[in-house]
Amino acid sequence: MTVPNLKTIAGGRLIAFEGIDGAGKTTQARRAVEALQQEGYDAVLLREPTDGPHGRRLREIMVAGRDQVDPMEELRLFLDDRRDDVERNIRPALDRGAIVCIDRYYISSIAYQGALGIDPVFIRRENESFAPVPDLILYFRLPVQQGLGRIAASRTTGQNLFERADYQERVRAIFESLDFDCLVPVDASATPDEVHEQVMRAIRGVLYRSVQKS
Ligand code: TYD
Repeated sequence: MTVPNLKTIAGGRLIAFEGIDGAGKTTQARRAVEALQQEGYDAVLLREPTDGPHGRRLREIMVAGRDQVDPMEELRLFLDDRRDDVERNIRPALDRGAIVCIDRYYISSIAYQGALGIDPVFIRRENESFAPVPDLILYFRLPVQQGLGRIAASRTTGQNLFERADYQERVRAIFESLDFDCLVPVDASATPDEVHEQVMRAIRGVLYRSVQKS
C-alpha cells in the first residue's frame, strides 16, 4: 500500500549490502535506511536469512553446525528462504516504489555456498531465475582478520563455523572476483561515519540516475 507523502521511485530500487562477516553491513544498512527516511523516501530494511521458517532453520544450522546438511541442501534452504522474501517483501516494496536496503542477498549465496564448492555460476543462475537483480551492490571490503577481530570483540560466544578464517578467506576471494556492473566497493576499514558517507554517495548515484531516466 502506498503511504501518502512518502517519496517513491517508479519500479523502486534494490540495494544489497554485502561482504564477509564483521564488515559492518548491518549497522550501515540501518543508518542508510534512517537517512533515506529522514529525506522523506519510502525506504525499507530487510535481511537474509529472514525470520521466516527457512531462515530460522538456517540460523539453527549456523549455531548447531553445518555437518547437519550438505552444501547443496544448504543452498536450497537459502533459495527457499529467498523465494519467500522476494514474494512477500521485496517485490511488493519495489512495486510501490520503495528503496529496499537488504542486509545480504543472493550475492552472499554466490560467495558463501560457492566457498563450499558449488559452482558460483550455477548459484547465480538459480537465483536470477526468480530474484530481481539489485540496482546497487555495496560490497564492504575488509581483510578477513579485521572482520573476525570485530566479531570476537563484540560477541561473548565463540566463533561458529561460518566464521572460520580459512573459510572466510575463500568467501572473500569470491566476493573480490564478482562481475556485476552494479557493484560498488566500500572501504569498510574506515570509520563508521566515513563508511556512511561512501554508502550515501553510492546510493545517491543510483537515485540520481533514476531521476534522469524517468
Ligand atoms: P548473520 O547472523 O545475519 O550474519 P551477519 O550479521 O554477518 O550478516 O548470518 C548470516 C550468515 O549466513 C553469514 O555468515 C553468511 C551466511 N549466508 C550464506 O551463507 N548464504 C546466503 O545466501 C546468505 C544470505 C547468508
